[in-house]
Amino acid sequence: MKVLSIETSCDETAAAVVTTTNEALQLRLLSNVVRSQIDLHAQYGGVVPNVAKREHERLLSTIVLQALTEAHLTPTILATPPDGSALAPFFERNQALWETFQRDILALAKPDIDLIAVTNGPGLEPALWVGVTFARALALHWGIPLVGIDHKEGHISANFIEQEGAPTLTQESFPILALTISGGHTQLVLMPEPLKYELLGETVDDAAGEAFDKVARMLGLPYPGGPSISKEAGNGSPTAFDLPRPMAHSGDYNFSFSGLKTAVRYILDDMDAQTRAKATADMAASFQQAVIDTVIAKTVKAAQEYGVATVVLGGGVAANTNLRTQLGEAVQKKTGATYRVPPIALAGDNAGMIAARAALGALANEATVDPAKISVDSNKQIGD
Ligand code: KG4
Ligand code: ZN
Repeated sequence: MKVLSIETSCDETAAAVVTTTNEALQLRLLSNVVRSQIDLHAQYGGVVPNVAKREHERLLSTIVLQALTEAHLTPTILATPPDGSALAPFFERNQALWETFQRDILALAKPDIDLIAVTNGPGLEPALWVGVTFARALALHWGIPLVGIDHKEGHISANFIEQEGAPTLTQESFPILALTISGGHTQLVLMPEPLKYELLGETVDDAAGEAFDKVARMLGLPYPGGPSISKEAGNGSPTAFDLPRPMAHSGDYNFSFSGLKTAVRYILDDMDAQTRAKATADMAASFQQAVIDTVIAKTVKAAQEYGVATVVLGGGVAANTNLRTQLGEAVQKKTGATYRVPPIALAGDNAGMIAARAALGALANEATVDPAKISVDSNKQIGD
C-alpha cells in the first residue's frame, strides 16, 4: 500500500510517498520533498506563524505534485473535471490555498495512492491548518482515506524506513526507546510495542534545539543555531568552559536547558567584545557537549532501566554529528541495545516520517478519519 503524506507544522513545506513492503514494519521511501522556509524566517530570528502559513499556501500544491512525480505516480488529467464547489467551504480561511488547489489539482485524476496522511499536531496552528485543509480536500476529491498524524510520532517512525547498510527494525526490535530532540521538543519515549507510546520524560523549559538557537544568537551566529553551533564547535574545545549538566541527577527523565543557556550568558556578559569573539568556537563546543552529555546520560539510564532492545534518535537536532556518534558509542558500551538513527534527510522535519507513521498504523488496521471532521491540535501530546 502507498501513503501520500503532507507536513506543514512549522517552517518546512513537505510531501512524500512511502510504500509498505513484503517485510512487516519495513517501509520504503518513494519520494521525500522538503522545501525549507529558513531564509524567509531568518530575518526575524525565528519562525513567524503567519509568514509560514502564507508560504505553505503558495508552495504546497507544487510540492505534493513533485512528491507524486518523483514516486512515478504523476496523476493523469480528467476528461471532465468537477467544478469543486463542494470543496470551497473548507478553504474559507485559506483562500490563497484554494486558488492553487483549483489551478493545480482539481483537473487531476486519482493517483495510485491508498491513504493520505497529514500532520495535525503539535505545531503552529495556522501552519497546521494549511496541510490539513489541503489533505482533506485531496481525500474528498480523490476518494482516498485520510489520517491525522502526530508530528512527534512521525519523528520516531522515520526509523522504520529502510536504510541501505543498516538492519531493519522488526518485531524483535521492541521495546524501543526513542530520543526525539528538535526545535520544538525534547522527549524520551518508550515504545513497548508498535504504535504504543509512553512518555518517560521531556524538557521542563526550552527544547534542546531551541537552546541551540538561543545560544547561537548570543554568540552572534546565524539562525538556525543548531547547524551554525555545530560548525563552529568543530574549531573549539568541548572542555574550554565548565558548563552545568542540568538535571543530570534529578532522578527522573526530564530535561532542562534554560539554566545552561543562562550559564552561557553569564560567562559571555563578563567578557569584552574581543575576548568574546575569540571564545566563540570554544563556547559553541562546550555548550554542544553539555547538551550531548545531558541527553546521553538520561537516554542510557532509561535504556538500562527498561531493558530496551533498541534505542532510536529523531528530530532536527539528530542531524548533529557529535550527538549521533557519541550516543551510539554510549548505547553500545553501556546497554545491550541496538542503536539506530535516521539519515539526515529524515531527521529534521519532513513528510516521509509522517507517511511512515501512517503506514505503520495502516498495517495494524488503525482507524481513518472523516475528512469533513478532521481538526488540528497545536498542543497534541504524544500517545493521545
Ligand atoms: O525537527 P526540526 O526540523 O523542527 C522541529 O520540529 O522543531 O528541528 C529543528 C531544530 C532547530 O532548533 C535547529 O537548530 C536544530 O533542529 N538543528 C540542529 C542541527 N541541525 C538542526 N541542532 C544541533 N545540531 C545540528 N546539526
Ligand atoms: Zn520536528
